[in-house]
Amino acid sequence: MSSSKETQPTIFVIFGGTGDLNARKLTPALYHLYLDGWLPKHFAIIGSGRTPLSDDEFRTKLLDDINQFSRTGKADKDTWKEFAQHIVYQAADVKDATTYKKFGQRIADYEKEWSVQPNVIYYLAVAPEFFPIIASNLAKSKLASDTKCTRIVIEKPFGHDLESSRELNRLLSDIFDERQIYRIDHYLGKETVQNIMAFRFANALFEPLWNRNYIEHVQISVTEQLGVGERSGYYDGAGAMRDMIQNHLLQLLCLVAMEPPVNFTADEVRNRKVDVLRAMRRFTPEDIRESAVRGQYAAGWMKGEQVPGYREEPGANPKSNTETFAAVKFFVDNWRWQDVPFYVRTGKRMHRSASSITIQFRDVPHFVFPPETAESWQQNRLVISIQPEMSIRLQVQAKRPGLDMMLNTVDMVFDYKGTYTSQAPEAYETLLLDTMLGDQTLFMRGDQVEAAWDLLMPILNSWQGRASQSFPNYSADSWGPEVAEALIARDGFHWFTLPLNGNE
Ligand code: BG6
Repeated sequence: MSSSKETQPTIFVIFGGTGDLNARKLTPALYHLYLDGWLPKHFAIIGSGRTPLSDDEFRTKLLDDINQFSRTGKADKDTWKEFAQHIVYQAADVKDATTYKKFGQRIADYEKEWSVQPNVIYYLAVAPEFFPIIASNLAKSKLASDTKCTRIVIEKPFGHDLESSRELNRLLSDIFDERQIYRIDHYLGKETVQNIMAFRFANALFEPLWNRNYIEHVQISVTEQLGVGERSGYYDGAGAMRDMIQNHLLQLLCLVAMEPPVNFTADEVRNRKVDVLRAMRRFTPEDIRESAVRGQYAAGWMKGEQVPGYREEPGANPKSNTETFAAVKFFVDNWRWQDVPFYVRTGKRMHRSASSITIQFRDVPHFVFPPETAESWQQNRLVISIQPEMSIRLQVQAKRPGLDMMLNTVDMVFDYKGTYTSQAPEAYETLLLDTMLGDQTLFMRGDQVEAAWDLLMPILNSWQGRASQSFPNYSADSWGPEVAEALIARDGFHWFTLPLNGNE
């Protein structure tokens, strides 16, 4: 965000204040916004949760959280002291009307103290079953009626399927204007993800090649070493398709495939992304077996430690049919992308944690060099590494130095570490700041969420109706099930992984 933007007096009401998201992401992000001078003079954070805590107990907990999870290490004592003065705690039962009266009173008190009407941001860092309850209670207690100053932030999952996402959208739109609703997809706040648009639309070089004439296929891969761990309660009802593909990976795909927006305003950018989702080829029951595969991890070893299989994770269903890996071949049926496959995969307990997008260009039209010159011949690739490596590399062929003509593949690399000295902000810093500034560009609009569900429902329904006979079908520390290799190999390709030193 440009530093010409100024934040207005703001009150954050964080539902789920004692929860994991607040501990790991929201509080460290707010603290960094404070450190970097983004928070206004008048701001307050009202944390709320079921546990009764005093303000001081709550602050001590948050300090521990920052010390554990902040990207810059332990909090500075004096800065923390100043920051902590802005934090209070309100024990709350979200079903009880008096809870909202108490919030209303606190908000009124701040308003009086500051002599200004602040923006109030209700952040729902709670399980999805509480979204409708909290939204309705905010409405009943008239805490959301000011459409200019109040905003609501909703975490994912936004619905469980198309019908429930529609229902939630309906409920929210009865209470809020769309411009008050901030549906989070934290991938959109990542530096490297935001950069996809800069890279595509601020350079003249790539756009002429960015189409079916020059691009052979695209791969989007988000692999994680972590297992599901303690999250079975949520994850078992979700699975990789709902947890990752419906939101994060489809958003990455939209950023790669979208048409250039006319300008960088929230609705213009989001319109172009919805266009992609609408253009995506629908799956018929016959397509699904060919185009979508799933996996579930078995027990194994990771970094010398024994790890349980998905079905043995704490609280997991020992017969669970939930996928912890999914790979899908998509097509975008429009002039730019007709018949260019987009292969998307994600999984837990994979060999490495790495998120990347690879654009593979078509082969040269005619190879002029004798075959023996090409030691490691490879089509051009553009690899956008999102995390943990943050880089963009263009892989090209070059003449290896020497007296003979030998070609090999070399990388032209833009690497964040080598280029910038400052540390990139965390996604939640960007997203919380944008919420304060009222900028919805990096948030999901209601129709985007529904379009993504609509696309995936045939696969989800088919998987639900057909338990996998092969689960568990990949071992921990692998690259996923064999069916995922077959999915892409049938088309003559393979999944790319950048070796740790960056050269393939
Ligand atoms: C979340 C998913 O949205 O994203 C998690 O619920 C997943 O299952 C996480 O681990 C990945 O996020 P990141 O930022 O670590 O890539």
